[in-house]
Amino acid sequence: MSLFITFEGPEGSGKTTQIRRLAAALEARGWPVLATREPGGTRIGNAIRNLLLDPIHTEMVPRAETLLFNAARAQLVDQVIRPALAQGTIVLCDRYADSTLAYQGFGHGQDLDELRMLIRYATGSLTPHLTVYLDIDPAVGLGRKRQGQDEEWNRLDAKDLAFHQAVREGYLRLAQEEPERWLVVDADQPQETVHRRILEAVEARLAALQTPPPGSSITGQRRGR
Ligand code: TYD
Repeated sequence: MSLFITFEGPEGSGKTTQIRRLAAALEARGWPVLATREPGGTRIGNAIRNLLLDPIHTEMVPRAETLLFNAARAQLVDQVIRPALAQGTIVLCDRYADSTLAYQGFGHGQDLDELRMLIRYATGSLTPHLTVYLDIDPAVGLGRKRQGQDEEWNRLDAKDLAFHQAVREGYLRLAQEEPERWLVVDADQPQETVHRRILEAVEARLAALQTPPPGSSITGQRRGR
C-alpha cells in the first residue's frame, strides 16, 4: 500500500495549512505520514530553492528555471518520496510536477510536451495518486499572501497578475484532463470546510485500497513524520 498525494494551487491558497491539518488527521488515525515540499525537501533541493526564489536573480531564463525545478524534483523523488512510499508511508507533497506545467508551461508559455518529457525523466514517471488543487482567484490569493506575517515574498510571486491568471487557468485545464486524479476545492471558504472536503476524498482513496492503518490493532503505536 502506498499513497502519494500532491497539493497544488496559486500563491496564498492555503496549501501549507491544509497539508498540516491533513497530516495531523491521518496520523491521528494511525497512518504513517511524511510531508515534504517543492522546491526543497532535501539538502540539494534547498540549495536549488535558494537559487530559484532569490529575488536578485532577475536574469534567470525560463529554461534554466525549468531545469532547476526538475533537478530539485529528481533529488526529492529518489532521496525521499520513493523510499517513503516503499515503506507504506503516505506522502504529502506541497507542489510537484503539475507546478512545472502550470507555471513554466501555462505561465511562461513553454512547450507542454517538452515539459512532460522532462518531468518523466526527472521523476522516473512517478505520478501522484491524488492531486488536491486549492483553487482561488490569484488577486485574492496574492492579497492574502502579502498580508501574511511570516510568508516570504519570492521572485515568482513578483510576476504580474496576468501571469498568475494564466497559471490558474492552466491548473483548471490540467484538472479537467485527468478528473480521476484531481480534486478541485474552492479555497475561498473556511479552512475547516476545505479540510473536511480533502479528508473525505483521502479517506475514500484509503478505503478503496482496503487496508487498515498499520498497527491499528495496537493502540498508541504510531510512526511520526
Ligand atoms: P513557495 O515559497 O514554496 O510558494 P508557495 O507557498 O506558493 O508554494 O515558492 C514556490 C514557487 O515556485 C511558487 O511561486 C511556484 C513556483 N514553482 C514553479 O514555478 N515551478 C515548479 O515546478 C515548482 C515546484 C514551483
